Amino acid sequence: MSAKHLSFAAKTNLGSFYTPKRIAKKLYETLAKVVAPDQIDVLLEPNCGYGALLEGEYVKRIKKVIGADIDESATAIAKNAFSFVCFKNANALKNVSRSNYGINENDRLLIVANPPYNDLTSQIKNGVKKMAYEIDRDLLTRDLGLSSLLGFNRLRPDFIAVLHPLSYLIKKTNFNALKPFMKNYALKEALIFNSQEFCDASKLNGFPVLIAIYQKSERGTSYDDIYHWRFNAIEGESFTMAQFDYIGAYLDKYPNKKKKNSKYLFYTMRDINALKRSRTFIKEEIANAVHICEEKLDYYCYVDIFKDYADRLPYYMGNLDVPIDRERFELLRESFRALSVAKHRKIFGNKIEPPTLDILRRAKADVQIYFNELLNRKRNAN
Ligand SMILES: C[S@@+](CC[C@H](N)C(=O)[O-])C[C@H]1O[C@@H](n2cnc3c(N)ncnc32)[C@H](O)[C@@H]1O
Repeated sequence: MSAKHLSFAAKTNLGSFYTPKRIAKKLYETLAKVVAPDQIDVLLEPNCGYGALLEGEYVKRIKKVIGADIDESATAIAKNAFSFVCFKNANALKNVSRSNYGINENDRLLIVANPPYNDLTSQIKNGVKKMAYEIDRDLLTRDLGLSSLLGFNRLRPDFIAVLHPLSYLIKKTNFNALKPFMKNYALKEALIFNSQEFCDASKLNGFPVLIAIYQKSERGTSYDDIYHWRFNAIEGESFTMAQFDYIGAYLDKYPNKKKKNSKYLFYTMRDINALKRSRTFIKEEIANAVHICEEKLDYYCYVDIFKDYADRLPYYMGNLDVPIDRERFELLRESFRALSVAKHRKIFGNKIEPPTLDILRRAKADVQIYFNELLNRKRNAN
C-alpha cells in the first residue's frame, strides 16, 4: 500500500516508500532461518509507517511488539489495523535509547525496519529534500538509512532484520560510515531485490536493495567478509564481488585536479548504474571531469565500450565497479581504442587517426566475444 496521506514532497522527505507484502513475507522467511520468535522478548519497528512489517505469524508469536514512526498520521492509521501492537510517535534519530521506547535493558530485542534512505546531500542540493527533523550528532551521515543503522546500533538489539541498499555494504565510503555498526553486528543472511518493488518507487532507475539479517557479535563484519560474501538475488542468481577484477585498480575514477593539461577528459565513474546514465569522454573541464593520463587511455576506452554492454548486466550488479579481465584486455587494447575513436570523432578529431572499416569490423567482433565471456561468467560461477 502506498502512503496515501502524504504529498509527493512529504513522501520524499520522510522516505515513505512502503514495503509490498511479498518482500515483507520474504523478510520473515529469511529472519526465521536465523532466530525463532520465541527467542525474542521485544520486537521494535522504529519506522513502521502503515505497519507493512508488522504483518504475519512470526510477529504475532512475540510477547511485546512496538511500532513507532515520526509520522503521526501513519501511526494513527496503523493503530486501527494492529490491535496487539503498542504504537508510539518517535524520531528514531534523536535521543535514541531503549527507555524512550519502554524497552528494558535486559530484554532480548529484535529490530525490524525499512528505514528511510537515499542520499540527503544530493537531494538537498537539487531542492527536493530538506531536513525534516533533528538528528543526534554522532548519527549524522550523508544518508538517512546509514544514520538509521547507526541508531539501531545504539539500542543494542540482539538481532536486526532490515531492508537497506546493497551499496551500504559494497561501497567502501558507506561501509566506513557504518563502522560503529559493523563492529558489533555480523551479517547472517542476505537476499537482494529490486528497489522498483517498493510502492511508488521510481520505475526508471532500479537499484539493488538487501533483506539483511544481522546478529550481535564480537567479531562484527569486515569489508573482506563482504568482498567474499555470495549475494543471492530473489530471482535465484548470485554473485560475489571477488569473482571479478575491477577497472578501479587501473585508472582514476574520480576528479584528479593535479594531473592538469591532459589531452582527454572523462566523466566521473561511480558504479555501473551511474555509468549507464552518465557520459564517458567529455570536452569540458567541469567539476566532475577526470583528467586522463595518456598511457591509461585504453582503459578509459574500455569503460566507454563497456557502457554499450552495461544493460546486459542484471540490476543486482548495478553497484559494482566496471569488471575487467586484464589478461584478455591486453590482447584487445587496440580493438577497444579503435571502437572508442570511431565513436567519438569530436573528442579524438585529428589527434588520433580514425580506424579503417576493416579494423572496426574485426574490433567489434573481438570485443563482442570478450564481453559474452566476461558477462556470462557470473552465471557459471556458482
Ligand atoms: C521506507 S518507509 C517504511 C515504512 C514501513 N516500515 C514499511 O515498510 O512499509 C520509512 C518510514 O520511516 C519513517 N521515518 C522517516 N524518518 C524517521 C525518523 N527520523 N524516525 C522515525 N521514523 C521515521 C517515515 O515516516 C516512513 O514511514
